[in-house]
Amino acid sequence: MNAPVSAGSGSAASVADRLRAALAGLLDGLPPRQAAQAVDRLIANYRGRTPTDAPVLRDRADVVAYAAYRMPATFEAVCAALEAFADAVPGWVPASHVDIGGGTGAATWAVSATWGGERPVTVLDWAEPALALGREIAAANPALRSAVWQRSRIGAALSIESADLVTISYVLGELTEADRASVVDTAAAAAQSVVIIEPGTPAGYARVIEARDRLIGAGFQVAAPCPHSAACPIVPGEDWCHFSARVSRSSLHRQVKGGSLAYEDEKFSYVAATRLPATPAASRVVRRPQIRKGQVLLDLCGPDESLHRTTVTKRHGPLYKEARDTNWGDAWPPPGQED
Ligand SMILES: C[S@@+](CC[C@H](N)C(=O)[O-])C[C@H]1O[C@@H](n2cnc3c(N)ncnc32)[C@H](O)[C@@H]1O
Repeated sequence: MNAPVSAGSGSAASVADRLRAALAGLLDGLPPRQAAQAVDRLIANYRGRTPTDAPVLRDRADVVAYAAYRMPATFEAVCAALEAFADAVPGWVPASHVDIGGGTGAATWAVSATWGGERPVTVLDWAEPALALGREIAAANPALRSAVWQRSRIGAALSIESADLVTISYVLGELTEADRASVVDTAAAAAQSVVIIEPGTPAGYARVIEARDRLIGAGFQVAAPCPHSAACPIVPGEDWCHFSARVSRSSLHRQVKGGSLAYEDEKFSYVAATRLPATPAASRVVRRPQIRKGQVLLDLCGPDESLHRTTVTKRHGPLYKEARDTNWGDAWPPPGQED
């Protein structure tokens, strides 16, 4: 995807570096075996889990494990979604942000990496230990110094102040069907723009599509990843729309997962919808491009509600070079080269 826009302090890369340093600091003094055990417990808790009445992140060990192990990946996935959204609303900068189910605040870091400068930020979550750790980590990010970390339960009673941008990142999967519907409706009623990110699995995609339908029903336009706000052309059960974000692995990752790979790819599904005037991508690259000798095969979701493959060859001139540089999740043709 294109470089994130940064309208103020600190580039996206420096925000990511600051987050990485803050997370590494959390593990200082924690015996590596204890950290790995906390991650194992967390993974076991999340595996096969259905929505419950109580937070999964119960104490500091849980949230340190979550932050060190998952936050770099959720941060990168949210950055990628926001970057695609920012491309569709060039020049727009959110003046306020509410992150629902924000936990340790990955999405607040991603918003500050995408649009520099300070803005009122509110993080809502029902897990106090997650909020406390999020506040602690956020001290390393000047844009988040005045963020408000507020205990709040998602449900029919949730009310949020109006905001330019609401994010709901990796949360819907922890909610009942009724709470999923009500949190999306609450976000739609309060915000100008709503960005929802879920794991890039068939189930995560299904939740994104459900949310997308509700946002369109509330009068929003889909700004990304879809080139249109009509029905998704993917036949349910046959495929799922998802993308991939590269995440540098921390030493804790390597310790828990084994192997020596320096990175891993986080798969995610998302929808970014808005009441603002938006220019969605002409088409979106929905698979990893296949580079062959003298040609690039691009699988695209197009404006005519269709999925199709296009082949770009050397005969296409400069567009061929663009195609070789194009990534899964990018707009096609690149903005400014539409015709
Ligand atoms: C997987 S974590 C995602 C955290 C963060 N948004 C991120 O992207 O890293 C899910 C978060 O949703 C919160 N959550 C789950 N159910 C909730 C509820 N009913 N009310 C408030 N928060 C909830 C959890 O406490 C947790 O912090």
